[in-house]
Amino acid sequence: MEQNQVHLMDLLRRWECRDASYTQAVPPLVFERALGSKVWDADGRVYIDMCAGFGVLSLGHNSAVQTKVFQATTEACLVVHAMGDVYPSRDKIELLALLGSMLPSYLEKGSLALSGGQAIELAVKTAQIASRKRGFISFEGSYHGLDLGILPLTSRKDFKEPFQPWLADHYVRELAFGCPLAIIEAAIEKQNAPGSYGCAAVIVEPIQGRAGIRIPPEGWLQGLSDLCKKHKVLLIFDEIFTGLGRCGQLTFAEHVDCDILCLGKALGGGLPLSACFARKEVMDCWPLNQGEAIHTGTFFGHPLSCRLGKATLQTIMKDELAARAKIFGNQMLEDLRQTLEGLPFVVDIRGQGMMLGIELRVDGMGARWMDILRAHGVIALANGMYGQGIALTPALNLPVAEWAEVLSTLKMTLQQL
Ligand SMILES: Cc1ncc(COP(=O)(O)O)c(C=O)c1O
Repeated sequence: MEQNQVHLMDLLRRWECRDASYTQAVPPLVFERALGSKVWDADGRVYIDMCAGFGVLSLGHNSAVQTKVFQATTEACLVVHAMGDVYPSRDKIELLALLGSMLPSYLEKGSLALSGGQAIELAVKTAQIASRKRGFISFEGSYHGLDLGILPLTSRKDFKEPFQPWLADHYVRELAFGCPLAIIEAAIEKQNAPGSYGCAAVIVEPIQGRAGIRIPPEGWLQGLSDLCKKHKVLLIFDEIFTGLGRCGQLTFAEHVDCDILCLGKALGGGLPLSACFARKEVMDCWPLNQGEAIHTGTFFGHPLSCRLGKATLQTIMKDELAARAKIFGNQMLEDLRQTLEGLPFVVDIRGQGMMLGIELRVDGMGARWMDILRAHGVIALANGMYGQGIALTPALNLPVAEWAEVLSTLKMTLQQL
């Protein structure tokens, strides 16, 4: 029944690094075709995708926008790759201008990369260059990516342990997410004490994604922003997951001031693209490129990603998908609470917009549920620091009928745990 997939997984196990893919998944899932919020595996089985490729595909798989961009690229011989930091493409310029015009006006200048982790790298380097300080404050449960330079900012010990001797952990102070502001103030003051390395920035996910869709206490983000202003410490919002409509608004930076904003995932419409935007006076601390950048990458600001990114952003605005995420996300949250609350193992159901989480009582139970859901044709992702939850981050245009199907599958499978 799963002939193609079993063969493909064997091939993968033979050729790929053991860490790179979840090859132990039973039943296996090898993506082959996809349309909207539906995915077909290599054996032709259909799934409803409640993950949208880790929150990337806000318009769903193979959207009409994507088709148009790909066709135009071929028909008009538009560039697929240019020369990033030396000779830019029209698409990179237009994407930056469009994105900049959509963000709060205080975030005036940006730089592009490919992955979320690379956008965080940009933010961390920008904060160091602008402040001439080295210290960072991050929060327990945070996930900012796994690149070596930024690994100290990501919370989970098991991601860091094999590389510990290389990590600049001594420059990072991790505090509890949502902790009293007085504790954060004391940590800033300690890093800023005479003879110390100084506090360059505080970095925060406005809602923690991988840690289990954790929402800070009401007013905490605003308090953090005020505190950073008071101490002239830069505030970095990691909105790689929460940004671009997912949480019912374009960004949290619309409501609460930050100094540096990182975007990724949804930005490229399915192609790799990320951005770091900042206040002008902060971003302008980088030296002027006189023919050679001091921070770049061969594929940074990739033209095809920027072209699809621009069309995706235009569609998010035109179709008012942030508003749809807010309204339909509220409905989804209510449906989940009505359907699942009180069932065995369910501890909490929470979220904002179309970033929803269900927390279960037992560590690892989210991972087990993910396997059972997959067997019943629903793709959802385990999350939480201990694999105790499930995250739902579907396309922002998820059809109502597909949600109804998912809801009954969630209830039915929960009883199999
Ligand atoms: C909040 C947040 N920051 C950073 C990252 C890292 O992004 P990437 O995996 O594209 O490097 C992620 C990925 O899930 C994320 O959720």
